[in-house]
Amino acid sequence: MARITYYGHSVIWLEVAGYRLLFDPFITGNPLCPVQPEALHPDYILLTHAHGDHWGDTIAIARRTGAMVIGIWEIYDYLQKQGITNAHPMNLGGRRQFPFGRLTMTIAHHSSSFPDGTYGGHPAGFLLESEGKIFYNAGDTALSYEMRLLGERYRIDVAFLPVGDNFTMGPEDALIAAEWLKPRLVVPIHYNTFPVIEVDIEAFAQQLREKGIEVRPLRPGEGFTL
Ligand code: NI
Ligand code: MN
Repeated sequence: MARITYYGHSVIWLEVAGYRLLFDPFITGNPLCPVQPEALHPDYILLTHAHGDHWGDTIAIARRTGAMVIGIWEIYDYLQKQGITNAHPMNLGGRRQFPFGRLTMTIAHHSSSFPDGTYGGHPAGFLLESEGKIFYNAGDTALSYEMRLLGERYRIDVAFLPVGDNFTMGPEDALIAAEWLKPRLVVPIHYNTFPVIEVDIEAFAQQLREKGIEVRPLRPGEGFTL
């Protein structure tokens, strides 16, 4: 059984195959996040890209817990220089079997730099196959035809899609993404954290439901099992 908890913005906690995964731990400074970084004890931290609203508390959590950090090569390289040696580099299209499941780094159309300006490599998403289920975290991205390919190749159970517009696709394009990905369930992320990415999430959810797509907007701190 997998357990998903949403902590606002793109912070996703996923318990699967007996492991605790934390995506994009932007906790300090995240006005929606209801927990403190000290409350989280992940086994793995997965980073879609290096922007501050995703990178967040990575260093502090990795130092405290010893969690392995997974990200694209440039993120791995940066972590090494920060003294975080328990890290694993990937790159787009790469796939690897981890103890928690088979992870593929997927294409995202966005940019990526660390808060100090260092180049962060290419942004990415993740597709995770574990316990017979498939989880897709699109990361920060525009609508991409690659999503259609993913929908044809994989029977996705849960798709985490950014919907906040301005920096990523907005509701209009996320609706198309959902039609192409054909997931059993859409969980919207990356919205309402700041005024510039405020959206009417219930209107978005209603549009998906009218297309026969299941959607579950989560309040920060809320979750579910599947
Ligand atoms: Ni970003
Ligand atoms: Mn972002």
